[in-house]
Amino acid sequence: MSDFESGAFNRALPPLRAVGLGDNEHISKQGLPLHFITRDYDNSLMSWFVHPRKSRSPGKERQEMFSACKNAFNTRTVVLLSERGSVPAMKALLLSAYENLQIRDIPDPSCGPKDVTIQVAACGICGSDVHGYGGSSGRRIPPIVMGHEAAGTVASVGSAVTAFSVGDRVTFDSTVYCGMCEFCRRGHVNLCDDRQVIGVSCGEYRRTGAFAEYISVPERILYRLPEELSFTDAAMLEAVSVALHAVHVSEVRGGETVLVIGVGMIGLLSLQAARAAGCSTIFAADVDPTRLKLAAELGADKTISLSGEELTHEVLRLTNGRGVDVVLEAVGRDETIHAGIDCVRKGGTVTLIGNIAASISLPLQKIVTRQIRLQGSCASAGEYPEAMDMIVTGKIKVGRLITAVAPLKDGAEWFQRLYAHEPNLMKVVLDPREVAIKNK
Ligand SMILES: NC(=O)c1ccc[n+]([C@@H]2O[C@H](COP(=O)([O-])OP(=O)(O)OC[C@H]3O[C@@H](n4cnc5c(N)ncnc54)[C@H](O)[C@@H]3O)[C@@H](O)[C@H]2O)c1
Ligand SMILES: [Zn+2]
Ligand SMILES: [Zn+2]
Repeated sequence: MSDFESGAFNRALPPLRAVGLGDNEHISKQGLPLHFITRDYDNSLMSWFVHPRKSRSPGKERQEMFSACKNAFNTRTVVLLSERGSVPAMKALLLSAYENLQIRDIPDPSCGPKDVTIQVAACGICGSDVHGYGGSSGRRIPPIVMGHEAAGTVASVGSAVTAFSVGDRVTFDSTVYCGMCEFCRRGHVNLCDDRQVIGVSCGEYRRTGAFAEYISVPERILYRLPEELSFTDAAMLEAVSVALHAVHVSEVRGGETVLVIGVGMIGLLSLQAARAAGCSTIFAADVDPTRLKLAAELGADKTISLSGEELTHEVLRLTNGRGVDVVLEAVGRDETIHAGIDCVRKGGTVTLIGNIAASISLPLQKIVTRQIRLQGSCASAGEYPEAMDMIVTGKIKVGRLITAVAPLKDGAEWFQRLYAHEPNLMKVVLDPREVAIKNK
């Protein structure tokens, strides 16, 4: 094992394993790689760029290379190089630069003793992936393989894995939580101190995603899929869990009047989750008539094609001036959150799911004097089994929300269409098995 493999060059970093070396043009005169990728034991891929240096001594250059690696830990290079030697490769949809996705060979994921490697059969494109693709959110830093809404079949298990075996149909939480911190122990795994999100590359959150033939994840975040649940529908479980969690933190007891603001993917699922939780009357507001049509089909009692003050007037009219008990806000802009606060009754709850804007202004006096509860909702905390049950029993319908199931090789094209806001697109699910068939 070299210094590099053992991680001896930097004790502060976790041990790294070099899994790919650059092709010839990236090899220095001394035969040392200048570009290479590494894979951490948590499967995150890192692309390293070492500046060429003139050095008379190869040994010295090697030293310099190691220190450059150390410094380059967060280097954003758009070059991901194909591996050389005996490292098994798989196909993955790589975001090599913003707005640039390609099918590339990357090393198979490593599988630690407590990890399970899954052959991905379906992975949904999330709205956050589309924002990440364009670079606006800063939450996906190329080069990265995105994808966190996945399902598939167990392909191999680590030596310490007990609950799963090869061939099991599974899905997994998009959050990799530690299971040990104060928040995890209380069941708030979405708030884990050591939280990592699969397929999100952003500082300490960096973690390779599931737009690939295989992915390895810790056993503790895995769920077995019921027979009746297809892989495609299972790719919706993450979003359904988000909706169920939002309704849980709203502390709905049944019989409430609810306003859902923004009936995109999350709003349409939240609407159905609110209904399943026993809410009696549900209003849906959006500025897009096609979304409102879907909201009506999926059970909204009334759809409202208004925003801002006009929306407030209409909701107050519909509730005889009282306001609704709960607002589920699934847009995340100043205007819609203000409308939510104006539409809720005194002592009511506005649950904030949407987060397009990083910050907003707040009408403090209204919130204080009307004693309104603003409740944030982040991802999910153990709602996956309930989400499976909701889909299987038809209490939450996801079929209408899936626009297309496409092979991974068409991923770049679908991302571009979603990014261009082509009308009537909802969830697109990519199937990497098609790539495997085509390339073997
Ligand atoms: N808290 C979480 O855990 C979590 C998880 C997933 C998504 N989100 C956030 O939830 C929000 C919705 O996500 P999505 O995937 O459903 O997005 P989406 O794009 O599918 O839906 C957004 C909807 O808001 C509507 N809208 C936009 N401006 C509006 C306005 N002024 N008034 C009324 N409606 C308006 C759009 O027409 C669209 O239907 C995003 O902000 C996303 O980042 C949060
Ligand atoms: Zn998502
Ligand atoms: Zn934790």
